[in-house]
Amino acid sequence: MVKISPSLLAADFTQLGRELKKIESGGAQWLHLDVMDGVFVPNISFGLPVIQSLRPVTGLTFDVHLMIQDPLPYVQAFAKAGADYLTFHLESACDPRETIRKIHEAGMKAGISIKPATPVEQLLPFLPELQLVLVMSVEPGFGGQKFMPESLQKIRSIRAAAPDVHISVDGGINAETGTLCREAGADVLVAGSFVFGAEDPQKAIALLKGEEDGA
Ligand code: DX5
Ligand code: ZN
Repeated sequence: MVKISPSLLAADFTQLGRELKKIESGGAQWLHLDVMDGVFVPNISFGLPVIQSLRPVTGLTFDVHLMIQDPLPYVQAFAKAGADYLTFHLESACDPRETIRKIHEAGMKAGISIKPATPVEQLLPFLPELQLVLVMSVEPGFGGQKFMPESLQKIRSIRAAAPDVHISVDGGINAETGTLCREAGADVLVAGSFVFGAEDPQKAIALLKGEEDGA
């Protein structure tokens, strides 16, 4: 079954605990946490203390998306803060194999994300060691951007190469683009504005899952 991972970036930051309850009772299974350092991407979001504070108040799986230039020295700290999946960018300045090894050693599941301009081929050598691949369908850094349809072909290629890995897609996901991604082989849909900006987040989550009328 497809997992919905609402992106905290679009939540009301004055009410985070309440926002989490809303999506959890609305049927989301994961929570997507976007960590930005102002270097790898031209934006700064939030970091370890926020993740650590939210950990005890929810049972959602913590799906941490690192948009930081130098992930390796922080792996252990994210494990301690409560990350379940730790995803870093293939374009960041780290040795991917060593970073994956450290993530596993810290007891987490490992993911690699690729930006829209990065070809899938660069990812293939690491696939056997990964539990998740995160396909960016917008340029990382900001919520509320438009979905890039080129990402669908990337999802298909990864699915053909790795039938069991989680394929997550992030950026511009709504009921329509979410359906296209599911059909292409994605099984985790990240959505910020579509879920947290919805009048009825439960309905938005149902639509993303492909439950017909969102009831
Ligand atoms: C962008 C982040 C996304 C973002 C998605 O860099 O990685 O997770 O929050 O936001 P929407 O769903 O609004 O495009
Ligand atoms: Zn993200």
